[in-house]
Amino acid sequence: MYDSSSEPHHYLSGNFAPVPETPPCKDLPVKGYLPECLNGEFVRVGPNPKFGPVAGYHWFDGDGMIHGLRIKNGRATYVSRYVKTSRLKQEESFGGAKFMKVGDLKGLFGLLMVTMQTLRAKLKVLDLSYGDGTANTALVYHDGKLLALHERDKPYVVKVLEDGDLLTLGVLDYDMRLAHSFTAHPKVDPFTGEMFTFGISHTPPYVTYRVISKDGLMQDPVPITISDPIIMHDFAITKNYAIVMDLPLYFRPKEMAKGTKPVFTFDATKMARFGILPRYAKDELLIKWFELPSSFIFHNANSWEEGDEVVLITCRNANPDLDVVGGKVIENLENFTVELYEMRFNMKTGLASQKKLSVSAVDFPRVNGSYIGRKHQFVYGGMVGSMMKVSGIVGIIKFDLHAEPESGNTRLEVGGNVRGIFDLGPGRFGSEAVFVPRKFGITSEEDDGYLLFFVHDEESGKSEVNVIDAKTMTADPVAVVELPTRVPYGFHALFVTEEQLQEQAKL
Ligand SMILES: [Fe+2]
Repeated sequence: MYDSSSEPHHYLSGNFAPVPETPPCKDLPVKGYLPECLNGEFVRVGPNPKFGPVAGYHWFDGDGMIHGLRIKNGRATYVSRYVKTSRLKQEESFGGAKFMKVGDLKGLFGLLMVTMQTLRAKLKVLDLSYGDGTANTALVYHDGKLLALHERDKPYVVKVLEDGDLLTLGVLDYDMRLAHSFTAHPKVDPFTGEMFTFGISHTPPYVTYRVISKDGLMQDPVPITISDPIIMHDFAITKNYAIVMDLPLYFRPKEMAKGTKPVFTFDATKMARFGILPRYAKDELLIKWFELPSSFIFHNANSWEEGDEVVLITCRNANPDLDVVGGKVIENLENFTVELYEMRFNMKTGLASQKKLSVSAVDFPRVNGSYIGRKHQFVYGGMVGSMMKVSGIVGIIKFDLHAEPESGNTRLEVGGNVRGIFDLGPGRFGSEAVFVPRKFGITSEEDDGYLLFFVHDEESGKSEVNVIDAKTMTADPVAVVELPTRVPYGFHALFVTEEQLQEQAKL
């Protein structure tokens, strides 16, 4: 097993080296054209450690930096800014890393780090009252605010300025109603404007479900009973339900202390459990639990109701090993599979079933945001080539859920339910593609719009934003925006519309 502490600084070189902030850089070269519906700001967040780690580095570590492409009337401006988290501000004042990192959490050293951190907090050297998250994982727009998220912390509000610049306003605790962590993957219902979310914890209740009104009023917590502390990275909503996932990736500090396992341990002997709760429930009494073969899921594409069934489209990982995924033993990808699946939960009979829709490896699934929680046809995903690239996307793939997967197909290629592939080309790696519709709302053409994503070319050392036609998935991009600096590999992206940008300008 790879011991990240033996090579503490391997990440600091080449395409992994952190980059400094870039103030707004205007009038970038654009090949092709930027359609009017792209007026707004395309943002993507990812880890960009400001200080060298105390010991190990893991791909979950690194201070959150947002890379933004402000688009206005065919012109583009690039900017990158750190999210000024409580953790970053404290480390800045120390002039070095002081917070525990996931890469540190192994063996006796891991225990020592936990002890040190607790001690530092007790001695009031570190202030943990605002969490210790890095805001490096994902972004969401709700109630007139752009939020930068990390599942171990509360959201940070980031204001987008007219010139595209990004200004951290601070932690959002919903008038002190939020006292637990907040997932990086809340869901905004496009019909009601409500946001549905949850938090995970190392102490009971391990999962807490929350509903936030359109106007930002957070409802009371709904504790969900599960047996152990787990990693629950994502969930899903339908028109009437919320779907929580009790998957057997456990937080096991005791096994870490023995020095044999990382702090997150996957137990393949345990079933994957899915809990479906009426989404306005005040408690968990009406939750229905379903079981499917063991798996872990980072990301769901979408979910909806169909007759008595709840359908979940998801990227299923049959044998996750975070050490293999995240550390340096990346060459060994044989055990790592992540495949698109359809899961069905019958609310009447209590039976669950699942069906594979793709071969490996597909993750970072996205859909037209107007269809969140509603039946839809298309899923756009990242073809995951090497997890060493953090998001490691080598191509963008479009699935048609109305078509059947091609039988006997062992590679990801066009045909069957694969409607298109945009190959990034050799030595080029991208991050999550976001769908931007030409027109918002449910239309007769769900795929009428564009996919936007960051690309880095390791040969030339140059980074770009690509815009491709989501309907045709043709190899010729609609636009390629050349960026003035390298954009490191990262996690999730979001498109903030011009209307949203103007709305949040009031902050
Ligand atoms: Fe994620």
